[in-house]
Amino acid sequence: MKCEKIICVDELPKETFKLFFGDTGGMLRVDKTDYPVLMNQFKQGFSKVWMYTAVDFKSDITGWDKLDEVSQRIFLLNNSYQLLMDAGVVNIYNVLAMLSTNTELKLNYQYIAQNESIHAASYSYGLSQMFGSEAEDKTNIVYEDEFIKSRMNDEVDYSGELYQRLILDKEEGPEAKKILFKAIVATYVLEHIKFPFSFFATWSLNKTNDNAIQGFSMLLKLIAQDELDYHVPVNKTVLKILREPRQNFTEEWSKEFVYWYVEKVTKAEKEWSDYLLKDGEVPGFNKKINNNFIEYFADKTLKDLGLEPLYNAKKTDTVDWYNEYRTINNQNASLQEISNINYNKGVVKDDILSNLGMLREI
Ligand SMILES: [Fe+2]
Ligand SMILES: [Fe+2]
Repeated sequence: MKCEKIICVDELPKETFKLFFGDTGGMLRVDKTDYPVLMNQFKQGFSKVWMYTAVDFKSDITGWDKLDEVSQRIFLLNNSYQLLMDAGVVNIYNVLAMLSTNTELKLNYQYIAQNESIHAASYSYGLSQMFGSEAEDKTNIVYEDEFIKSRMNDEVDYSGELYQRLILDKEEGPEAKKILFKAIVATYVLEHIKFPFSFFATWSLNKTNDNAIQGFSMLLKLIAQDELDYHVPVNKTVLKILREPRQNFTEEWSKEFVYWYVEKVTKAEKEWSDYLLKDGEVPGFNKKINNNFIEYFADKTLKDLGLEPLYNAKKTDTVDWYNEYRTINNQNASLQEISNINYNKGVVKDDILSNLGMLREI
């Protein structure tokens, strides 16, 4: 019988291997691990813990005035959206954590939700450090800009339906599985196409403007590490495991939906790019480069799931630069940038003890 209380000890839970629609009886136990890959991803993700105040934005205060109006607009649109979306993603992961019935997955989703709230707080902290009393007005752009609002419609719709029907209405069965599958795919695509493009925008501005926004660029390296080296791989693992016959998702795992959705998001991201470039282009950040970048990540999103690419986009120098730039331990990173991290010991070393030391310092 399925456990309806916060924890059930009347009988041993069955099918604890099932990621969803199984039964843990509310227990969390690691003595029997069905998916070591998920446990390893959890350990790896946890070892990169950092605090929302980790980056110093002092140099960005003066750097901001060196950006031209086109760059300032792109920066604000992008990072306000990121703040808004990361705050939203906290709730998506909390819902997924509630629904997951496998210990390894639950540990991951609960920690990722926590991770996301640190991201949202760090964007807000960065903007408040940069703009002081003007930060509130600047951040309020998320309530005014129609493009920012519409760029998050899909995630809001898919996760909203998930929350209503699977949590509130307690639906099960094929339709519930389809809703869950779509919400996971939407989250995976968000973090694998939209977020990389947002990071790319800020890093391009920083590169073109002689490190004028190096604090924010450093913050995005920390966030990108969580997103691309932890959250994306976890959802990729989940989508892979859900293809196993014993997970009972064979009918609902829809290649057609993945293709349809990736194509939809790719088109929408190109429109977002055009909107960012409405008042002019920035060297290294123009329509041609951006469209290639978006298509390259759309292809990668599909290939990572074992699906054929849609665009066969070339891996350009820009993509190579982006991949190199985002690596925090990159030896080419300027010393100035590195000095922007406060208490960075735990971040630059993959060492859990250093991380705990970092937390104590904070
Ligand atoms: Fe995030
Ligand atoms: Fe994320």
